[in-house]
Amino acid sequence: MATADIKKIGVLTGGGDCPGLNPAIKAIVVKAHDCGVDVIGIQDGWMGLVSDGPYMHRELGLDIVRTIDRSGGTILGTSRTNPFNMEGGPDAVVGKFKALGLDALIAIGGEDTLGVADRLCNEHGLNVVGVPKTIDRDLSATQYTLGFETAVQVIMQAIDDLRTTAGSHRRIFVVETMGRHAGHLALKGGIAGSADIILIPEVPFEMDGVCRILADRHSAGHRYSIVVVSEGASLKDGSEELQSQELDDFGHVKLGGIGQSLAREIQEHINLETRHVILSHLQRGGSPVAYDRRMGYYFGTAAAEAVMAGKFGTMPSLKEGRVRLVTLKEAVSKLRTVDVRLDYDIENYRHSHRLLVS
Ligand code: F6P
Repeated sequence: MATADIKKIGVLTGGGDCPGLNPAIKAIVVKAHDCGVDVIGIQDGWMGLVSDGPYMHRELGLDIVRTIDRSGGTILGTSRTNPFNMEGGPDAVVGKFKALGLDALIAIGGEDTLGVADRLCNEHGLNVVGVPKTIDRDLSATQYTLGFETAVQVIMQAIDDLRTTAGSHRRIFVVETMGRHAGHLALKGGIAGSADIILIPEVPFEMDGVCRILADRHSAGHRYSIVVVSEGASLKDGSEELQSQELDDFGHVKLGGIGQSLAREIQEHINLETRHVILSHLQRGGSPVAYDRRMGYYFGTAAAEAVMAGKFGTMPSLKEGRVRLVTLKEAVSKLRTVDVRLDYDIENYRHSHRLLVS
């Protein structure tokens, strides 16, 4: 489809919110406006296309998006709705898409939202383009997903802030990050904050190893230590810590709580006072850092360009410093986890000190 065939597009944000969504929405609206195309904002992710509620969509003009790139969250709202998990869900989406007179849709989301976008495009013929976002940065086919750098900044700031109190009291602090099944957030936040131990889901840990490192630091005269643990990390032969057994619409469990049990275990094993902080949704808060504003602008603009060029079933991705289109299928085909061989030191439970690869 050429530019002339596109008159009206929809945009939605799905899954967990994060800073960077609003800059992407703004870029889409600005680019569309430049091309003489109207934009309809769909409220609350896929929910806005399966329900008939009165406030589930609105026109997005330049006046509405002018200042939104400075704020976190999403002006469109979000949800973890999966139309493929509902009786008649996909047909409802197609029906509403037609009723709104849309020629194409841009879905901004992670693995789940983009998985739905891919199926709607390939199985139901809907003109959909994606934009990658998730603080977990676990999508394959792109080196960046919106929200990641802001979340890393929050982790680093929390570690910086904890140092003075940890040092004053001679305490160990365990900082629990999000990241579900990928350790990127814990690893990059831990590197930026210079954490002493970083525990990631990709490498199950042994309590004895962790305690040995902390006890050695104490004997060497360090007043405190910082341990960063990803919510999805687990003990060797153990399982992840769950907040509840309940599954969301995409079959995910709610993780969280390992920070607390790890702090308790450390204190019991080596008799050094240990406290914990769970950063939880603070990592998805605040205004986007400069990189998320820039990437929101790049990804949003490129997604709108892809729509105008009729390149449906694709998503802009970051590869070797350039924005390129990849297929949604590639993006959701597998989880991108930490490359342990290159980036992690499994003996010392921290990032690798070796950077150059031969
Ligand atoms: O996928 C992003 C993420 O923030 C994960 O890191 C975390 O496990 C999950 O979402 C939490 O989701 P919710 O806000 O629905 O509890």
